[in-house]
Amino acid sequence: MDTYTGELDSGIRSNDESSPGGNSDWNKEFGFDYYYPIVSRSPLIKDILSLVKKVAKSNASILIQGETGTGKELIASLVQFISSRSHQPFIKVNCAALPETLLETELFGHEKGSFTGAYKTGYGKFEQADKGTLFLDEIGDMNLSMQAKILRVLQDQEFNRVGGNKPIRVNVRIITATNKDLWNEIQKGNFRDDLYYRLNVVTINVPPLRERKEDIPLIAEFFRRKFASELRKNSRGYTEETMNLLKNHSWPGNIRELKNLVERAVLMVDDGKMITPGDLYFSGKDYFAAGGTDRRKDVITIDDENSNLKLDSLERKAIIKALETSNWIQKDAAKLLGVSARSLNYKIKYHNITHSSWKKNT
Ligand SMILES: Nc1ncnc2c1ncn2[C@@H]1O[C@H](COP(=O)(O)OP(=O)(O)OP(=O)(O)O)[C@@H](O)[C@H]1O
Ligand SMILES: [Mg+2]
Repeated sequence: MDTYTGELDSGIRSNDESSPGGNSDWNKEFGFDYYYPIVSRSPLIKDILSLVKKVAKSNASILIQGETGTGKELIASLVQFISSRSHQPFIKVNCAALPETLLETELFGHEKGSFTGAYKTGYGKFEQADKGTLFLDEIGDMNLSMQAKILRVLQDQEFNRVGGNKPIRVNVRIITATNKDLWNEIQKGNFRDDLYYRLNVVTINVPPLRERKEDIPLIAEFFRRKFASELRKNSRGYTEETMNLLKNHSWPGNIRELKNLVERAVLMVDDGKMITPGDLYFSGKDYFAAGGTDRRKDVITIDDENSNLKLDSLERKAIIKALETSNWIQKDAAKLLGVSARSLNYKIKYHNITHSSWKKNT
């Protein structure tokens, strides 16, 4: 049988397969600790790691930009880990998760009695991060008035707790991350340019997985070993066909998507067997785009193997099956198929699918 086991020993040190850290040769070369498992062989990532090594020890603010799941938080942790602040606090705040008033008290704390229920002084994340590093995640989602407050701390290194008038001084290194293009947000008037210049003393752009395809087999193998050991499964590797599907997938969710997919595949595969396309679960459109054929056998039944294996016919079946499952509500069927309602509507017309519950076929 064609099997995929290659490209490993040059990338992951195999005598410690259960370790969560990819002790890749150049991780060693860079002197990184294996608790920071950045597995990669891409020159783009190598450049990022050289940059990280250069700037980590300074106090420079670092802005990390990249699509979802590309490893921004991992890189932020790495900066902290090799910085001279590594023994000081590393505090993370997700700026998109909280409404403005809550975010303000979360970051700056509050004085006792500043609002009903404030029985004692609350220390915000800036104070908690004093002498250490504050990681502001999803900074692109912060509104303009909070941005002004952050700018003030960066300029003056001081702030007031909510309800307080005594300036508090802190010494905090700021790392920010966003999956938005901040420059674009500035053009749209959503982000302050003066704050941007403060935050991006150093900018790190993390490339999406589809722009570093050489990482796909390596990371897939890394996670296969990790999950096999965690789940105590005897998984033997990927068939070549499976690896080709992985390589051709577009990975809109990047490393996180790959990691989840591998975890599920290791869970699904029979003990002692190789991972086959049937063990993979992509969203529909990406699966077909990657050239897959038989994975959705639980969703579509192919009655006549020979005549129905055409992509068009499979697509029509998948659409009808999804519509049936979702009571012919197109919006829900689109979700099931992993496509936009608009493109499903287009496909429905293309395949000339109609249903009595629809007024007309729109
Ligand atoms: N090069 C890599 N090697 C191994 N694991 C990685 C790598 N890059 C990312 N990961 C893993 O992928 C997952 C997503 O990474 P992370 O949370 O850092 O992404 P992110 O860019 O912050 O995503 P989001 O924008 O959605 O917050 C994590 O489990 C992380 O450990
Ligand atoms: Mg993140």
